[in-house]
Order: sequence, then C-alpha cells, then structure tokens
Amino acid sequence: MTELTTGHEPPLLDLHPPQGDFLADALAGLGKNPKAISPMYFYDRIGSELFDQICTLAEYYPTRTEEWILQTHGRDIAEGLGPSASLIELGSGSSRKSGLLLRAATTLHSYVPIDIARTHVQRAASLIAARFGRLRVLPVCADFTGELKLPRATLDARSKHVWFPGSTIGNFGPAARARLLATIRRLCLPQGGGVVVGVDLRKDHARLERAYNDERGVTAAFNLNLLQRMNRELGSDFDLAQFRHHAFYNTAEHRIEMHLESLSSQTVRIGDHSFEFDSGETICTEYSYKFTVESFVEEAAPQGFTYAHHWTDPEELFAVIALRADPALD
Ligand code: AVI
Repeated sequence: MTELTTGHEPPLLDLHPPQGDFLADALAGLGKNPKAISPMYFYDRIGSELFDQICTLAEYYPTRTEEWILQTHGRDIAEGLGPSASLIELGSGSSRKSGLLLRAATTLHSYVPIDIARTHVQRAASLIAARFGRLRVLPVCADFTGELKLPRATLDARSKHVWFPGSTIGNFGPAARARLLATIRRLCLPQGGGVVVGVDLRKDHARLERAYNDERGVTAAFNLNLLQRMNRELGSDFDLAQFRHHAFYNTAEHRIEMHLESLSSQTVRIGDHSFEFDSGETICTEYSYKFTVESFVEEAAPQGFTYAHHWTDPEELFAVIALRADPALD
C-alpha cells in the first residue's frame, strides 16, 4: 500500500488491486454449464464507449432519471450527510454524476473516489479538485469488492457516507450485495454514516425489456463486443454472425438477463481449448436486478442498515435510497 503524490494532483492511495485475468476467467466461464462470463469484461475501450451511448438512448431511462433526481433533490440528499462528512464513491469512473451531488454538498470534509482503473481515478480526482477548489479530494485505486482501506485523513471526518450511483449494485447477485453492504458498513463505523445508493425500480416488464433491447441495436453491439474482445485479446474464433444478443426480464428473480445466444451448433476455439455450443445455447453475460424501495431496505437490514430517506422521479422509475449504518447492530 503506497500513498503517492504526483505534481499538483490529489494524493493517490494505491492498494494495487489485482486486475482480472481475462483468459483464465473466459476459459472457466465457457467451461461451466450454463456458460457465463462476468459483465466486468464488457468495459474495454469500445465497450465503455458503447455504454456511454447506451446512457443517452431514449429507451435507457436509468441514467437520465438518476441525474434528474440528483438535480432536483441534490440539496436534500446532501443535507442528509450532515456537516463535515466524507463522501466515498465506489467505482467512481469519471465521477460524472458526483459533480451533481458535490455541487449541493458544500460542507463536506472530503470526497474519496475509489476505482480499479488507476489513470481514470487520478484524472477524475484532478478534474474534481480543479472544479471544487476547497474540497479535499482523496482518490483511492482499489477493487471495491475486495479489501478496502481509506486514506488516513478520513479519520477526521464527522461521518462517512458511501455513494454508489448508477444502479451498479443491481449487477451484483444477492450474496455479493450482502458482502458489499457488510464492507460498506465496516467503512462507515465507528464514526457512523451510511450509504446513498441508486437503484433501478421494478416496473412494467415491457418497459424494462425495451431498455435492454434498443431499436438502434447499441445494447446488442455492447453485448456482442464481448465476443469481439475475446477474438482480439485472446485469439478466439467466435463467428459474430452465429450469435445474437438476447435480453429478457426474469420475473421470478426480478432481473434483466443478458445472454449471447448461439444460432447454430458450433465449436469455438481459444488457443488449445475448444467449446461446443448447441443451437440456442447461451452465454450469460449480465444480470441487472430491479428493486422496490422496500425490498432493498429489507435486504440491507440484516447487514446493519436502517432506512433514512429515499428520493424518486414522478414515474417512480428509479430511486436514490439513503440508509444509515446502525452501530447498535454489532
Ligand atoms: C452498469 N449497469 C448498471 C448497467 C445496467 O443497466 O445493468 C449495464 C447495462 N447493461 C446493458 N445496458 C446497461
């Protein structure tokens, strides 16, 4: 663990997170029955650009709805943090949404963006520091699903609040969400604080399915890019014309599932390894869980969180939920 200072950039706490092993994970995932590959591998340069495009699509309401909530209720959300709080963002990326919250939170002790991508988190921290002159910005390079430590300076904050926007929590299954909430609570205590999290709400299934099956085919390209990425980086021989994007709402599990479906029976090779596909067989590439405010509060309770507040839009498409880390629940 090293604390680095580079020029006038905010000091970086670098926890040297292990970067995923794409080849090992792809071989293991394609060897499973049913086949699955982690959605974290969507985000190479092309995938990240396609995701940015998804966020602007007419059918994909979550991004603009969460931004509307932050623009409309940012003051209220910021007030709930209390004075001299440290705001810790998980998977901060470009910190784009945080600007909306940081603008409203004028009495923060510090802002701690955490991301696995070192250059991203450093660049975003510099931009935020330049934009919000008096704000203490303390970037951390870490995998937030692993071991997490905070910069020492956060010990002086009156409370710590984790900010997890974008409904990214919906890309984790129930067990992983429970582990993440437990990590978040450990970060908040003993000073106290909580979590402010963006979640996509359950709604009309047709509307949900449209959001993952846009007319222009951007989400399909985003999903299929995973096969292209394997061809580019791992030397596999996926024939893109023999797979299609398939996304649907699984009602029983309350989640959108994204798959890549084989259109024929075929064999795909990666190096010395070969994988058989039946016609219609799929690789599962993503789950995106949908919640009600009550379902989210209920599943966070055993992890030591109690409801504080929530904010939503007039159509109740999306919610920003604030939960308090309860020290009494140890
Ligand atoms: C990043 N995550 C919250 C998005 C979602 O909606 O689950 C990823 C995504 N996949 C397809 N479209 C968007």
